[in-house]
Amino acid sequence: MRVIAIDGPSASGKSSTAALVARRLGWAHLDSGALYRAVTLAAIDRLAEPDWTGSRILALAQQLPMRLVLVGETFRPEVAGVDVEREIRSDRVTAHVSRIAAIPEVREWVNARQREAVARHPVGVVVDGRDIGTVVFPNAPLKIFLTATPEERARRRLTQRGQSPDAGQRAREGQALEARDRADTTRPIAPLRPAPDAVLLDSTRLSLDEQVERVAALARGRFPG
Ligand code: C5P
Repeated sequence: MRVIAIDGPSASGKSSTAALVARRLGWAHLDSGALYRAVTLAAIDRLAEPDWTGSRILALAQQLPMRLVLVGETFRPEVAGVDVEREIRSDRVTAHVSRIAAIPEVREWVNARQREAVARHPVGVVVDGRDIGTVVFPNAPLKIFLTATPEERARRRLTQRGQSPDAGQRAREGQALEARDRADTTRPIAPLRPAPDAVLLDSTRLSLDEQVERVAALARGRFPG
């Protein structure tokens, strides 16, 4: 199976690392968080809150439809034929995504889309998320669990948004990230945790280039030729 699974907490650099590793290897990149965000966007825009249930959300996903589309070498979420990559990064989606992602039927639907994407891209796919190595692709030959301290993750998240954060902003962002991590690690289904055979990579003191190089070097060992 030509899959590299990269898991880890929010803002640990999973998606940036996964995208650059995929580019180096000539593989595709799939950000599973983007799919959970797209489902969340559709649910909060199109359903009243009492209807945020597994069966309503699945019906909506089929009706719209919600799909993963390969654009260049990136799988991007599409809702009713519209690319939603920008909209899914908004604060209102971020505020609700952990709740929607904890619904078992939503997870099954997202997992099925990921397995389909990998099946139709035999060259290889780098997939990042929270449960890729533990649940979605437990047989992936290379699994990485990427971490960084909450302070460093908060700094990266704010800098990514073009802000130069002061200590107070960093502390607030750190608390928001930790709340989301807590929800993701303590949920009963597919909690965030490293697979037993994952390589743990603490990126607190690594540059993005260094992270990418470490993962690409491991990939060259696991996927020779
Ligand atoms: O990676 P990102 O921060 O965009 O993910 C958004 C949310 O989607 C996470 O906080 C988590 O609740 C959910 N998620 C998940 N499983 C994944 C990827 C994301 O539960 N594999």
